[in-house]
Amino acid sequence: MSLELRAPHNERLSLELPVETAQLGTPFNGSICAADGRTFFIEHNIIRLAENRQSFDTLAQRSNHISITAQLYEALWRRHSISLLSGESFSLNEEKKLLLDWTGPISGETILDVGCSTAFYARNLQGYEPETQTVALDLSFPMLQKAREKAVTEKIDLFLIQANAQQIPFFNDTFDIVAMGGTLNEVSNTIQVLTEIRRVLRSNGRFFIMYLLKSTQWLGRVAQESSSLAGLHFWTYKESKKLFERAGFTVDRIETKGIVAFALLS
Ligand SMILES: C[S@@+](CC[C@H](N)C(=O)[O-])C[C@H]1O[C@@H](n2cnc3c(N)ncnc32)[C@H](O)[C@@H]1O
Repeated sequence: MSLELRAPHNERLSLELPVETAQLGTPFNGSICAADGRTFFIEHNIIRLAENRQSFDTLAQRSNHISITAQLYEALWRRHSISLLSGESFSLNEEKKLLLDWTGPISGETILDVGCSTAFYARNLQGYEPETQTVALDLSFPMLQKAREKAVTEKIDLFLIQANAQQIPFFNDTFDIVAMGGTLNEVSNTIQVLTEIRRVLRSNGRFFIMYLLKSTQWLGRVAQESSSLAGLHFWTYKESKKLFERAGFTVDRIETKGIVAFALLS
């Protein structure tokens, strides 16, 4: 099935994305055109709705645009990150199980992974229920290239979109499931990103989010204070709950492992 996008330069215009762009095993290059003639390019199946140069405004975001970060991200960092940050052993398989148990994707549903990096959430959701239509969105082109490489190896089809989560290129009520792992701590305008997610989520949709809380240990606080200079933000449990409610979500559940929080919002 083709995918309808909302044009980033004019929210009344749509862009029709051919289904072939999601068939990652077959390289696809081309372009799509809005009704006013504005053209967007598709490079190796990645739909480029954001320019690389407009893409980052903090140090933390800048690091994601370096190819070596994308190459090493999942193997060196993501695999161990939850255990390292929480101080408890928690494997990627356990995180995958939590994601699938809480979101429960079913055939015919539409799924969005926001700030996907190598699309760990998108690949697992689509891999679990192949009759879904899954979109992985990130500002970083190198991360999306790595996501593509991994999805090809796993024979998983996804739409890969380079776009800004502050202006999600979809119409209202498009997705049944939205997932976001670790990205909220990094985005510049937290409330705008959450409001955009609520806008594109259907009224009976599920939003799975993993994020980092403020540390209560002095060493952790020192580390977080310095990372806030690079543009990262952290919240207490209460502050995060308030933030989600301010964006219009109902908090169904939150579980914490040290400073790592998993929440299901609707
Ligand atoms: C911590 S990583 C995400 C990890 C990934 N979700 C996972 O579970 O492995 C943050 C990602 O968010 C992306 N990002 C940051 N700000 C963004 C924005 N405004 N729009 C889209 N992506 C953004 C970065 O490029 C980076 O790949």
